[in-house]
Amino acid sequence: MAYNLLNGKKGIIFGALDERSIAWNVALKAHEEGASFTLSNAPIALRMGEINHLAKSCNAEIIAADATSVKDLESLFKKSMEILGGKIDFVLHSIGMSPNVRKNKPYGDLNYEWFQKTLDISGLSFHKVLQTADKLDAMNEWGSILALSYIAAQRTFPNYSDMAQAKALLESIARSYGYFFAKKNKVRVNTISQSPTMTTAGTGVGGFDIFFDYANKMSPLGNATAKECADYVVMMFSDFTRKVTMQNLMHDGGFSNSGITGDMIKYLTK
Ligand SMILES: NC(=O)c1ccc[n+]([C@@H]2O[C@H](COP(=O)([O-])OP(=O)(O)OC[C@H]3O[C@@H](n4cnc5c(N)ncnc54)[C@H](O)[C@@H]3O)[C@@H](O)[C@H]2O)c1
Repeated sequence: MAYNLLNGKKGIIFGALDERSIAWNVALKAHEEGASFTLSNAPIALRMGEINHLAKSCNAEIIAADATSVKDLESLFKKSMEILGGKIDFVLHSIGMSPNVRKNKPYGDLNYEWFQKTLDISGLSFHKVLQTADKLDAMNEWGSILALSYIAAQRTFPNYSDMAQAKALLESIARSYGYFFAKKNKVRVNTISQSPTMTTAGTGVGGFDIFFDYANKMSPLGNATAKECADYVVMMFSDFTRKVTMQNLMHDGGFSNSGITGDMIKYLTK
């Protein structure tokens, strides 16, 4: 059921790779709720071509941008304002990649060039998105900018490796830039810390199936799905959340505040 929550709003959605992607689900939901937006991803991801199906069903244009390139981001924001006919109301940063995780490097033997890539792609790129939007004066008043995070920013999940540092950076950038954007034109900046979700980025982490099941048993409401995350994101883009800013918002079925659960006790009982 649609509520017209984003009627007339214009946005940019980064990171839809395939139909499992959180960003893909957000695009479908935002379209259903009346938004118009452009879709962006790294040139290499666009070569897969999957995103064309999404673009068609959302009546959206696709603009290539490597989120680590300020030049690409400037061109993306300018083109998006042209296509959408005005300034932007919402941005979703749904981007993550670690070469160390991808190549199974142990945490005690990280490749530091790759570590810097992890930080640049998965953390610093959020600052680049924010700073580009800021310098181009691309955001409408009461706009909303979101990035997706994971609880490994606060707690150790051994296989999450250097992505944990990238997520800590991401969340810190949301707090710092949230201040400046609020003062500038009442734009809010937040991160949503999502449950483990079966996507390309998620399943790339070693032992993902196990910590997916673990989180599910440890969350009184169960893991939040990509579709449920899309619902939350759309609410955060809507006018009903105008005074929520500089927060890391847990969207995890209660996982972050659970010590142990009945399901876990049952599972561990011999
Ligand atoms: N899947 C999970 O378990 C989970 C849990 C919490 C948070 N998250 C976060 O959600 C976000 C979306 O991931 P997802 O799970 O939907 O997986 P996904 O693999 O579908 O999306 C990750 C996206 O990042 C894009 N990307 C990588 N490098 C890029 C670059 N240089 N420039 C632009 N885009 C680039 C990829 O092309 C891809 O579209 C990520 O930030 C991820 O860390 C995922």
